[in-house]
Amino acid sequence: MAGEIITIQVGQCGNQVGKHFWSQLCREHGIDVDGQNRIPDDPNTPRSDDTNPFFKQNDRNRYTPRAIMLDLEPSAVQDVQNSFPDFFDNRNVWVSPEESGAGNSWSKGYDYGFAQQEKFLNMIDKEIDATENFEGFQLIHSVAGGTGSGLGSNLLEAISDRYPKNFLASYSVFPSDESEVVIQPYNTILTMRRLAENSDASIVFDNNALLNLTTRVFRDPYTSYLHTNQLISAAMSSITNSIRFPSYMYNSLPSIFSTLVPTPELHFLTAGFTPFTSDYVSGGKEFKSNTAYDVLLDLFDDSNLLVTRQSDGTVYFNTYCTLVGQVEQSDVLKAISKAQQRLNFAPWSSSSLHVNIGRRSPYLPPQTKHTYVSGLMLSNTSAITSLFRGTCKMFDKIFSKGAFLNTFKDGRMFQNGWDEFTESREAVQNVVEEYSAAEQENYLDDIILEDENMVGNQSAQLDADGDDII
Ligand code: GTP
Repeated sequence: MAGEIITIQVGQCGNQVGKHFWSQLCREHGIDVDGQNRIPDDPNTPRSDDTNPFFKQNDRNRYTPRAIMLDLEPSAVQDVQNSFPDFFDNRNVWVSPEESGAGNSWSKGYDYGFAQQEKFLNMIDKEIDATENFEGFQLIHSVAGGTGSGLGSNLLEAISDRYPKNFLASYSVFPSDESEVVIQPYNTILTMRRLAENSDASIVFDNNALLNLTTRVFRDPYTSYLHTNQLISAAMSSITNSIRFPSYMYNSLPSIFSTLVPTPELHFLTAGFTPFTSDYVSGGKEFKSNTAYDVLLDLFDDSNLLVTRQSDGTVYFNTYCTLVGQVEQSDVLKAISKAQQRLNFAPWSSSSLHVNIGRRSPYLPPQTKHTYVSGLMLSNTSAITSLFRGTCKMFDKIFSKGAFLNTFKDGRMFQNGWDEFTESREAVQNVVEEYSAAEQENYLDDIILEDENMVGNQSAQLDADGDDII
């Protein structure tokens, strides 16, 4: 049985994305918004899905998400609770009594996180008590506001400190170029330090790429977070498809991410998805039927990525794809061979495309008009640094002038000056440099594969020989 995963949603973005994630999981597992089975189980036919990793089930067959929702102001959490009456465990919801938000200040969010840390860890401990084979966490947050970034940063530190053996993944939303708030580069750099030091894998999204994609997917120039969040939740649900509809491979977070993260420093991943059919988004456009061949190749097209990349010479370190639908094995083999010719892999990497054939949920409406294949791609590439370099540039511009630092001066991390900023900037620079070094042929030469250099629990999961590649 796959291990249990606790989802922690922090701040407005975290909770709004989380709302769509749970909505998608409910559809895929035939669960109503109040946690009841939509179609009663037939005692003679065992379920083919595994709800246990993401849901608790009580003796009256009611499902409750293994989720924790945190925010400093109530509206996003209230919206989730109103949309899913009696679905979430109220003991796992925390909203600051002051209800005023962090006002986009990382420092304020971090200090709240620090003050409430024991409470949050208690919540997590209680949630872990309700598991049998606890596997790890996934955090959903934005890196740019005050709560998701600051409180989220404090939680990342606290979780990796208290539960070092459990996997910690993050779904981290970066702001668009047109930052709404001038201090966003500060918040982002401070949060990135925690992502670099405390998470095992971070799937990076950015609102530029998401908003561009939504215009195309929904054919609507008036895009909104409602749209972007459906795209993120499509990726999230597909990443976990092999855990929730298990087969013999990729049935845990470490088994998926160990194919993608060659060294602990290189753990910032790009997601691509296509096409966004009605299985994943509401009100999306109609598609012609397609094949696994089309989808697998399209996944590597920049226009289908959920993060902007501005690099002509993208170097791939690792890739992992999940295909769901009417997949012909021969199409997959053909596409893999074509993609391997096209993609520029780092000389030390195995140049393999790890492909998981996922299962379409039996609870989704039957496909009538066309048959579709949908695909998700996760890749670890040098191109992720263009986003980080851009953030560093914006950070340097304001920090070199000592601009807008007032919001931070009362924070506990800044009592002795601005070292936290310089250290965080350095940590991000190290990530950028590590990615550049990984483009070189001799990158792995100095790395001894000791336990501490491995990701998560490696027992029998690491695919060093590429044995489980189609
Ligand atoms: P405070 O508002 O300061 O308490 O922090 P917060 O973490 O709640 O802020 P929020 O999550 O709103 O973070 C702001 C950043 O997240 C900005 O870059 C927004 O564009 C982005 N953002 C906010 N909500 C969403 C959302 O639902 N989806 C997406 N994709 N981005 C969002």
